[in-house]
Amino acid sequence: MIILPKKKKFYITTPIYYVNSQPHLGHAYTTIVADMIVRWHRLKGEDVFFLTGTDEHGEKIQKAAEQAGKPTGQFVGEISEKFKAAWKSLNISFDDFIRTTEKRHEKVVMEFTKTVYDKGDIYKGSYEGLYCYGCENFKTTTELVNGRCPDHPTIALEQISEGTYFFRLSKYQKKLLQFFEKNPEFISPVNRREEIINRVKDGLKDLSITRPKDRVKWGIEFPADKGQVIYVWFEALTNYLTAVEWPKGKKFKYWPADVHLVGKEIVWFHSVIWPAMLFSAGIEQPKKIFSHGWWTVNGQKMSKTLGNVVDPVEFSKKYSVDIVRYFLVREIPLGDDGDFSEKALINRINGELVADLGNLVYRVLSLVEKFKGRIEGNPQLDKKLNLGKIDGYMEKLELHNALAEIWEFIRATNKYVNENEPWKLQGKDLGNVLYNLLESCRVISILISPFLPETSEKINKQLGTKTGALNKCKFTKFSGKIKKGEYLFRKVE
Ligand code: MSP
Repeated sequence: MIILPKKKKFYITTPIYYVNSQPHLGHAYTTIVADMIVRWHRLKGEDVFFLTGTDEHGEKIQKAAEQAGKPTGQFVGEISEKFKAAWKSLNISFDDFIRTTEKRHEKVVMEFTKTVYDKGDIYKGSYEGLYCYGCENFKTTTELVNGRCPDHPTIALEQISEGTYFFRLSKYQKKLLQFFEKNPEFISPVNRREEIINRVKDGLKDLSITRPKDRVKWGIEFPADKGQVIYVWFEALTNYLTAVEWPKGKKFKYWPADVHLVGKEIVWFHSVIWPAMLFSAGIEQPKKIFSHGWWTVNGQKMSKTLGNVVDPVEFSKKYSVDIVRYFLVREIPLGDDGDFSEKALINRINGELVADLGNLVYRVLSLVEKFKGRIEGNPQLDKKLNLGKIDGYMEKLELHNALAEIWEFIRATNKYVNENEPWKLQGKDLGNVLYNLLESCRVISILISPFLPETSEKINKQLGTKTGALNKCKFTKFSGKIKKGEYLFRKVE
């Protein structure tokens, strides 16, 4: 029996999205970025698991269903479907879409909570404070701006006083700080890491992790007290374990998560509360919490409460799915904020997509169509490709740099056309140039496939080739059957 070497595994997650509002461009951003990363790892031949889904419990959702005049179960089901449909139409290649109202999740949450309880890390107390329903979190007075939550200025805070159970977060302060020290890349990018470390150094308060049932009905029952439901964040974070069948399922081979991709406002939950929960339950820590920035519209965060939401699906109908995907990732470095502008999007279409990529493929295929000789020769253009550099950027999650490096190769290929002037060549010389150009286009189709999957497929169709893994990015014999089609992208006036 031949024993094949075990494939490297890669597990990436997006946050699970609240179902109190429709999917918007901000949600799509996190999901698209995760999709590009996971597709890159698939290209490398790794055994990947990509998880996304919806966060369906808690007071905020309960209230939204009441306002919509629908039974809560029906309400959350409908919006969850909208997220799933949006991700399908944006070509998101998730392996699992989890819903926190599923039985499998309830089971894991109960078991996880019991484990932490048995460890002695949960105790009964009472809580008094200002609550923000937007964040589903208590706020301290120092966090407020003009007496309101800065992220949800339109939602009035509520003074709440009630019996609750606490998780001993404070107990893990030292352990967390040691862990951050030993694993400098755990919280990325580095500016977020410093913020978090300083906050942890300031001291950690125990966390209220249950809500009385007479106020919050829509949640998972707290196993130690039937009068309480589990706090939505404590429950939601556990989804990352549910999907990989903690504690003993087959899929647990994917744990620990390699990347939890999150927006900057929820880094605290993922890099402090989640690791403390895992310490308590005796489970290995994820490898990286990566925080991306926010998309703003005219300088304001996109949100339903502010009424400035951009619909990613509508936008992709107007342009194309690939164009929206490309723009979001090329426009800003992962980790930075960006302001959404259609003008900037059009500039990228006309420049990089039409003039560089689209034009290259069209030019090459037009030349090949007229040529009757043999397409063969010596690899020359492959020297312009720095695959190691691109992969290095992808490993560091510098997606915009990886794309810029791929574009270097596209531009080098265009330059090769201009320098060799194939329209003046004949016979073997022309066969050689065309060989280099076709192999280059084939390699480009592989490299862009995680970012622009539809365009990659179109190029393959036109070249008559099959897309391959990253190890097919070497120049070999060109064996496609050309079938020139439409321009890949159209100029926008
Ligand atoms: N349900 C929680 C996450 C629980 S994970 C265990 C939640 N949901 S959310 O729907 O409010 O947000 C999910 C993600 O969308 C976050 O990563 C957030 O940063 C991202 N975005 C929401 N609006 C955004 C922008 N305007 N721009 C970029 N991303 C933003 O938080």
